[in-house]
Amino acid sequence: MPQLTEAAVVDALRTVQEPELGGDLVSRNMVKDLAIDGTRVSFTIELTTPACPLKDEIEADVRAALAPLGAETVDLAWGAMVRRSTPSQPLQLIPGVKNIIAVASGKGGVGKSTVSVNLAAALARDGASVGLLDADITGPNIPMMLGVEGQPRATADNRIEPLERHGVKVISIAFFVPEGQPIVWRGPLVGGAIQQFLRDVDWGDLDYLVIDLPPGTSDAQLTLAQSVPISGAVLVTTPQEVSVSDVTKALGMFERMSVPVIGVVENMSAFICPHCGEATEIFGRGGGERFARAHGLELLGQIPLDITVRQGGDAGVPAVAQREPGPAAEALVRLARTVAARMSVRAASEGPVLTVS
Ligand SMILES: Nc1ncnc2c1ncn2[C@@H]1O[C@H](COP(=O)(O)OP(=O)(O)O)[C@@H](O)[C@H]1O
Ligand SMILES: [Mg+2]
Ligand SMILES: [Zn+2]
Repeated sequence: MPQLTEAAVVDALRTVQEPELGGDLVSRNMVKDLAIDGTRVSFTIELTTPACPLKDEIEADVRAALAPLGAETVDLAWGAMVRRSTPSQPLQLIPGVKNIIAVASGKGGVGKSTVSVNLAAALARDGASVGLLDADITGPNIPMMLGVEGQPRATADNRIEPLERHGVKVISIAFFVPEGQPIVWRGPLVGGAIQQFLRDVDWGDLDYLVIDLPPGTSDAQLTLAQSVPISGAVLVTTPQEVSVSDVTKALGMFERMSVPVIGVVENMSAFICPHCGEATEIFGRGGGERFARAHGLELLGQIPLDITVRQGGDAGVPAVAQREPGPAAEALVRLARTVAARMSVRAASEGPVLTVS
């Protein structure tokens, strides 16, 4: 049996691949704090996101690789260092914010805010530092869905302090307009307000800032999408053809602005009866998948229609934060991890940051 030495452990870990980014754990510099004490090996694997969907796979590979070395105990801890991705637009980055994920849809009512809230809450539950910016001036309902109200305070240096709920720092246009007052803002004004939220809100260090964009592709959305340094956009649609046709326009908007689209979420995919478990495809079938395939995009997830999602939204407890997560909550957690993984791949493929003048 080979000896249990640091060199032997490192050699063994060289045989374990990072399934998404490629390369092995050692040459990717992911193994930290390696220590050997008798027959006990301990180390930390530093991932590129705490919401890594492949933890179990990596752990199984690591344990299999170390088995021949005769360690009685392998103490494996997880760490994460989220990398910063550079948006393709020449916009100013926010100092502590590593990735901005924009959630968009062609029309309202398809679950864009629901996806935004659950994405943010799920990433936070996995240990990421997360912010959520409600930029939907037509229906700023993030505060209700997250169960947070109040007025943000000013910090000592006169910046805006975000409110916090479910581990997510949140800012909404709704915090700044009197309740019940209609919000009729023109495109440029909206863009200005959003830029102010990016600049003047004390976000601190964030791995991910999720932005719930207004639906559609009118002036307001366009100005907004142009004024935010988006690292990647997630498109939400229902399986219904009308929703798919609207989201195609949103895709076109992002393509014209060179905003990378991470992929598509099909929401309200099927209704799963809580009594008998039968699936009913209320909004038709496969629209999200067809749309993704037609445009060479990844279908990031399919979220079933689930009463607990709607109830959670109304009660301010996102599905992923509920005590008994149903099928939709599980799909939303998987979606969040998939999005995090794709952001990691994007950041890794960008290489050193170039300054464009
Ligand atoms: N998967 C789902 N299952 C059940 N209800 C949902 C689901 N997704 C969204 N809803 C509900 O549908 C309504 C519209 O969703 P919302 O996220 O506000 O859409 P949008 O932001 O696109 O206008 C909300 O009441 C929400 O709770
Ligand atoms: Mg909404
Ligand atoms: Zn039934």
